Amino acid sequence: MVVFDAVTKTFGDPKSKTSFKALVGVDYIVPRGSISGIIGRSGAGKSTLIRLVNGLERPSAGKVAVDGVDVGALDEAGLRTLRRSVGMIFQHFNLLSSRTAYDNVALPLEIAGVSRAEIKQKVGPLLDLVGLGDKANSYPAELSGGQKQRVGIARALATEPKLLLSDEATSALDPETTQSILELLKKINAELGLTVLLITHEMEVVKTIASQVAVIDKGLIVEQGTTFDIFTNPRHETTRSLLSAAVGVKLPHWVTSGLKPEAAPGDRVLVRLVFFGDTAFQPLTARLVAAIGPDVNILAGTIEEISGQPFGSLVVSYPATPEVTARANQFYAETGLTTEVLGYVA
Ligand SMILES: Nc1ncnc2c1ncn2[C@@H]1O[C@H](COP(=O)(O)OP(=O)(O)OP(=O)(O)O)[C@@H](O)[C@H]1O
Ligand SMILES: [Mg+2]
Repeated sequence: MVVFDAVTKTFGDPKSKTSFKALVGVDYIVPRGSISGIIGRSGAGKSTLIRLVNGLERPSAGKVAVDGVDVGALDEAGLRTLRRSVGMIFQHFNLLSSRTAYDNVALPLEIAGVSRAEIKQKVGPLLDLVGLGDKANSYPAELSGGQKQRVGIARALATEPKLLLSDEATSALDPETTQSILELLKKINAELGLTVLLITHEMEVVKTIASQVAVIDKGLIVEQGTTFDIFTNPRHETTRSLLSAAVGVKLPHWVTSGLKPEAAPGDRVLVRLVFFGDTAFQPLTARLVAAIGPDVNILAGTIEEISGQPFGSLVVSYPATPEVTARANQFYAETGLTTEVLGYVA
């Protein structure tokens, strides 16, 4: 559906010292019908990447193709056609404040020259689809953030696109409203078969709805894979740090602040264990104590869901002595647990 092929984007004169490489050789494929995510910190190049898809920017090198069409090679007429098949939603909704919800959704149809009668046939069902059937005559100022984004989504769907681009569409919303908007995007993806490409700095968003994800850092994709693999086995430092806030147990500050990278005599080691399947928790804790010994402490544990699959993590501590460590490592090897040494505490 969307193919990024060695895409580089340089802003400013490439020959001058002030030019800036916002994207460096990006390769990424968004399969048709998928919900795909791109995650990265502020300034990583996310918006630049998504703007290449609807031709708001052109690549400096490489190619962006939507359904086989090279977006960078399109003329103005070609871009207009493309943009009818690619909807977009934004962090700050970008609604016209002087227009009602109905008229905001109608706008792209008016621009496309659709008749009044046909517009009427389309806008009502779209407002119903996003759960705003009763707000047709409300102005943006009379709507909550979540409702405004629902109008934004209905507007993006008005021209019946096959691809929906989302640039931080939930970043201005509270966690509960974020979840309801993500549920709506899931529903649209499932019912209309719409492909969704979303960019975000929030792992929580990716975790809830994306089936695959790419991590972008300073214009480079540093890691990509299925959401489940990236969350359960992150390899790159950027991924790990973006993840630490979104997944697994959160350790209290008094624990993390006392963590040391090396063990001193008498120290305890803190280890994070990752396991899959919601039934594994009870037998695991019991077997852990049996295998490692009574000196093991369970500091925190949680089971959550990542793109529909249960995933648990447990933080344990035990004496960092060679004997206990050997027993623990043997247990991890036998059970196939993924482990990560977080550090040592006195
Ligand atoms: N038109 C432009 N001219 C020059 N530099 C630009 C332009 N647009 C973006 N940049 C630079 O490219 C880099 C990537 O910007 P981009 O907006 O893609 O980041 P982002 O990942 O979307 O960040 P955020 O999460 O803050 O929205 C930034 O350093 C930005 O300053
Ligand atoms: Mg951005």
